[in-house]
Amino acid sequence: MAVEPEMNGAELASKLKSQVDPAGSRAALPGLDASDLQLDESQLAWWRDAKLGLFIHWGVYARIGQGEWAYFNQHYDETSYRELARTWRPALSAAEMSQGWLDLAEEAGLKYAVMVTRHHDGYSMWDSQNSWKDFTTVRCGPGEDYVRAYVTACRAHRIPAGLYYSPMDWRFPGYFDPRGLPDSAQAMKQQACRQLSELAQNYGPVPIMWFDGGWLAHQGTDADAAWLWDPLTLCRQLRQSNPTMLFTPRSGYKGDFQCEEGADPVTGPIRSYPWEKCFSVSSAWGYRPDDQYMSLPQLLRHLVDTICRDGNLILNVGPDPDGRIPEPAVNLFRQLGQWLAHNGEAVYQTRAGLWQPEEGVFGSVTGRQAIYLHILNPDRFAGRSLDWPASLRLRRAALLSGPAVQADIDRDRLSLILPAGLPPAPDTIIKLELD
Ligand code: GLC
Repeated sequence: MAVEPEMNGAELASKLKSQVDPAGSRAALPGLDASDLQLDESQLAWWRDAKLGLFIHWGVYARIGQGEWAYFNQHYDETSYRELARTWRPALSAAEMSQGWLDLAEEAGLKYAVMVTRHHDGYSMWDSQNSWKDFTTVRCGPGEDYVRAYVTACRAHRIPAGLYYSPMDWRFPGYFDPRGLPDSAQAMKQQACRQLSELAQNYGPVPIMWFDGGWLAHQGTDADAAWLWDPLTLCRQLRQSNPTMLFTPRSGYKGDFQCEEGADPVTGPIRSYPWEKCFSVSSAWGYRPDDQYMSLPQLLRHLVDTICRDGNLILNVGPDPDGRIPEPAVNLFRQLGQWLAHNGEAVYQTRAGLWQPEEGVFGSVTGRQAIYLHILNPDRFAGRSLDWPASLRLRRAALLSGPAVQADIDRDRLSLILPAGLPPAPDTIIKLELD
């Protein structure tokens, strides 16, 4: 698995803590469960149909340019970090930058968004009345409510506005020693409960609460820290104002979908639970001026591997201190949008299958009246036949780009003869139209 260049032990542990067995059922997934919190498939359908989201990590850490863990990793003391926030004056207004982010999401074909409202550094990106020591963008720094601007822009673009929130906050000594410093740990918990209800009630509807960092002292799993956070009560409270809010498993509650974090290859069979692959299109979540960005073929490979295993993909970008999305990311998102403009029917509103994916060779998804084969390597795919259920009637097989493909069904096997000279990458799509 890929370890990002400057990741420290705690960051790596944070990345790994929610990894789950791809073959596992809900019962085997980590975290507390409660039947009254479980949503049914129809309440998740919009999210599964959407397939692709935009993730935004933007906070005062962008000024440091060392990723979103800078406060902790660079050993900032609270006063100097606060000074950085107090003197922060992004060149773009909240409305301008949100508009830019959402315009790009739309152009890229991303159908939902999640913005970091407060990361582990404790800096709230909205006009929070319950922030410890009033550490908010409104009262300490730019004087703007970025969450308000973001949800407003999302609504104007008809893009569901998810919110990321980290209950843990490095500013509290009780985070690092919750049993030794219970008052501080309790104060941190109280901040989280109150801030979450502000977000749920004043910025809703909130379709997704993307919990992160429900752990303690950088140790154990999120579920191990449930004795403090009491995630079931927290999630129940949030659902009172937002009855179909989706949760990640990182509060300690099992959640509505699993997270697979990082740009490591997606492998294994189709998964039996809803899940989301999340990674940054560069090496860090938060802004770094000289970051390396992914190429479109690399991105498409993740996309195909994810959707053919029934996952969603949320793509992160870290805007610069002025709120601008770095140029290489803009270019990449635009290329993705162009690709999706031609191939989107083989992505959106599909579900994985009929066939199990074969790593580096192909995968498949099913849409309303068609099955789509995503072929990653035409040479390796050539010559194979696939199980064909007797109940299906094939009307036509063709490349999504147009030309027909010869398809032969011999009893329960389908064979396809691909045209010669197909490019090896990134993705050749065959549409099997059904009657
Ligand atoms: C990790 C990191 C965090 C990042 C998150 C996104 O948990 O601690 O910095 O926001 O992953 O998935």
